[in-house]
Amino acid sequence: MKTLTFTNGDTLSAIGLGTWKSAPGEVYDAVLHAIKSGYRHIDCAAIYMNEKEVGKALRKALEDGLVKREDLWVTSKLWNNAHKRADIKPAIRKTLSDLQLDYLDLYLVHWPVAMKPDVVFPDGPNDFLPLDEVPLSETWSGMEDIHAEGLTRHIGVSNFNIDKLDEVMTDARIKPAMNQVEMHPYLPQQKLVDYCHRHDIHLTAYSPLGSGDRASRMKRENEPVLFDDQTIKDIAEQHGCTPAQVLISWAVHRGTAVIPKSTNPGRIEQNLASADIQLTEGDMEAIKQIGQDFRYIDGSLWAMEGSPYELSDLWTE
Ligand code: A2P
Repeated sequence: MKTLTFTNGDTLSAIGLGTWKSAPGEVYDAVLHAIKSGYRHIDCAAIYMNEKEVGKALRKALEDGLVKREDLWVTSKLWNNAHKRADIKPAIRKTLSDLQLDYLDLYLVHWPVAMKPDVVFPDGPNDFLPLDEVPLSETWSGMEDIHAEGLTRHIGVSNFNIDKLDEVMTDARIKPAMNQVEMHPYLPQQKLVDYCHRHDIHLTAYSPLGSGDRASRMKRENEPVLFDDQTIKDIAEQHGCTPAQVLISWAVHRGTAVIPKSTNPGRIEQNLASADIQLTEGDMEAIKQIGQDFRYIDGSLWAMEGSPYELSDLWTE
């Protein structure tokens, strides 16, 4: 399995298990099966509303000796309603309690969007806090605090564009170690990848399979389906693998981590086995030429009418 190496020498397995949309009642089995199958990287977030159940699976795996804590990488994310410096420690403590862990490997600022503390999802524009009230630099200082306390080994961000990374790095004592963003052949984000690699920021590709199991309110009409893409299907056929495996392998070949979500035992195993697929330069070039440009997770919830956030601030590519 390819790994990503951090400046302190820590390594992260490129293929991890995504847990967004993994339903309560399913995610315990999914995480346990993943660890049994050889996954060592589990991606979580407080807002996925399933960390307690993930925590039970992690506890079981550790107690049964399936894996040692130091060989497991667990990521979680700070929700938008805890961006004030004083709110960050309580937020990670809650996540650690739910996950039944003493420390995280990586904690990410989930979105560059701040909301009032009592808001989970915004109903109206007054639920937001503008960034001049809670600047990203304040949130980042809180992230540095919890890193200094040893509550997480690494800190990073998610859904940050180049401008926002620049902004955070201006005053940062610790640079973000990771930027987790949507990436797949329809959204390769090459400029962002180049920028991050120039600044020693690793990337994780979320929604690598197009997240077809999103709630219908999060979908647009006639979305393109990655699994049906003819180029991806042709490459899969040549390698005797599935389109999903081509998509996962593509992310690994670009030097990023990738977190396909599955709660199905066979697909959990299949996704990890993508590590064995060797895409050729010709395959990578053919995928580059696909020419579709589509963002499945467009952040439009944050840009509702009257909100201080606009899509043009979130995405620059
Ligand atoms: P399931 O959980 O039933 O396996 P993403 O990682 O982009 O969010 O995509 C997740 C979606 O892709 C889920 O609907 C998941 O369904 C499905 N999925 C995961 N792995 C595979 C696979 N190997 N083949 C087909 N669909 C998959």
